Amino acid sequence: MTTPDYGEKIPNNVGLRDDRRLQRALESWQPNFLSWWQSMGPALNTKDVYLRTAVNVGREGWAHFAHVPMKDYRWGIFLAERDAQRTIAFGQHKGEPAWQQVPGEYRADLQRLIVIQGDTEPASVEQQRNLGATAPSLYDLRNLFQVNVEEGRHLWAMVYLLHAYFGRDGREEAEELLHRNSGSEDAPRILGAFNEETPDWLSFFMFTYFTDRDGKYQLGTLKESAFDPLSRTCEFMLKEEAHHMMVGTTGVDRVVERTAQLMTENDTDDPTAYGAIPLPVIQKYLNFHYSVSLDLFGGETSTNVANYYTAGLKGRWMEERRKDDHQLTDHSIMVDALIEGQIAQSEVAALTGLNTDLRREYIADCQSGVNRWNKILADAGLPHRLKLPHVAFNRKVGAFAGVQATPDGDLIAEDEWARKQRNWLPTEVDKTFVRSLMKPVHERGKIAAWIAPPRNGINGKPFDYDYVHLT
Ligand SMILES: [Fe+2]
Ligand SMILES: [Fe+2]
Repeated sequence: MTTPDYGEKIPNNVGLRDDRRLQRALESWQPNFLSWWQSMGPALNTKDVYLRTAVNVGREGWAHFAHVPMKDYRWGIFLAERDAQRTIAFGQHKGEPAWQQVPGEYRADLQRLIVIQGDTEPASVEQQRNLGATAPSLYDLRNLFQVNVEEGRHLWAMVYLLHAYFGRDGREEAEELLHRNSGSEDAPRILGAFNEETPDWLSFFMFTYFTDRDGKYQLGTLKESAFDPLSRTCEFMLKEEAHHMMVGTTGVDRVVERTAQLMTENDTDDPTAYGAIPLPVIQKYLNFHYSVSLDLFGGETSTNVANYYTAGLKGRWMEERRKDDHQLTDHSIMVDALIEGQIAQSEVAALTGLNTDLRREYIADCQSGVNRWNKILADAGLPHRLKLPHVAFNRKVGAFAGVQATPDGDLIAEDEWARKQRNWLPTEVDKTFVRSLMKPVHERGKIAAWIAPPRNGINGKPFDYDYVHLT
């Protein structure tokens, strides 16, 4: 492990200085990244932002907090420390030493997995580009920048792997990661949810809760990879991802809290007139973001994913805590299916059902957020509750892509869906209303009326800290 040098052009703990070829390749990608950040990154101009920057990976103080002018921000390459004894935890190579190089036979598959992960990172920055202009507080504005710079660093993490281990193909893929853009007609991002808009802060919180959480689960499976540099990269990314989860969870908490407060204070089910977001609208946003995020896990069954597992490229969530043989060749799993036009379950080989396994872990985690939001409602003395819609609701990928289902999981005909979907998904009226609340509050210690202030600030600072200096 080399000591990171933050004075270098590209701060890193991968010994870039000793690999001139790689260093030059990354230094030639860097200006392209910066011009992408300029044109597709946060649109709001700032003097500086109070940011956490990864400067090392050690147990203590990997994160350095300071007010940083964006033009001086340095994205670094940091991998979790290497465990020289690490062995492969699953699949046909179980028990063998983890790979320090890419085995030729798995090169194409590994590259594909890295490109898909890498593609999501800049996509979310693009989706969130205009949110700074309507931030509800300087605290929230700072968190937006934090999430954005870290997604930028996650792109760096994947580009490092492409450059360091995949030769010319890898370098070309690294360029493509900057050419595709969220929502672009000609060159969209690879996955659907990353081409959706994030036009308002309720969407942002739902995105960081539901869609970033998909990222957490994907990174969790790649952290298990036999390809050690990928594993170490993802392990460190997961540390940063924890903050994104916090932003989403507490963001929705605070919206629900404020709505509940205005409902009880004014003894009404519809706090619209008081400038809060009504619970049915929050529910519709939840329905949308949850269902598009479920699609990110792919079909219920997948032979590709079975092969990735057997090869050791991609494991299960918490692989090492599972109490089985970690090869799964004789196991089976029940997966969601459409059987004779009915929502049902069918039994498949555990290996082909791995997407279902991961999606289930994710769903259980999503439910914990809903429980905490419902506790906020209960504590406010309100009988209303939020809920996750049925897994068949609004799906574009997998067993239920060809049918329409209500949030309760009743299959309905297309014409009924067409008539009723406005009750379940955000309408133009809902979105326009939410957008009408999005007036920027860029004054220190102040907050917009539709959201409660956070319980805690960042890094022990109070809510009214000067997290961002605007130009
Ligand atoms: Fe990320
Ligand atoms: Fe993230």
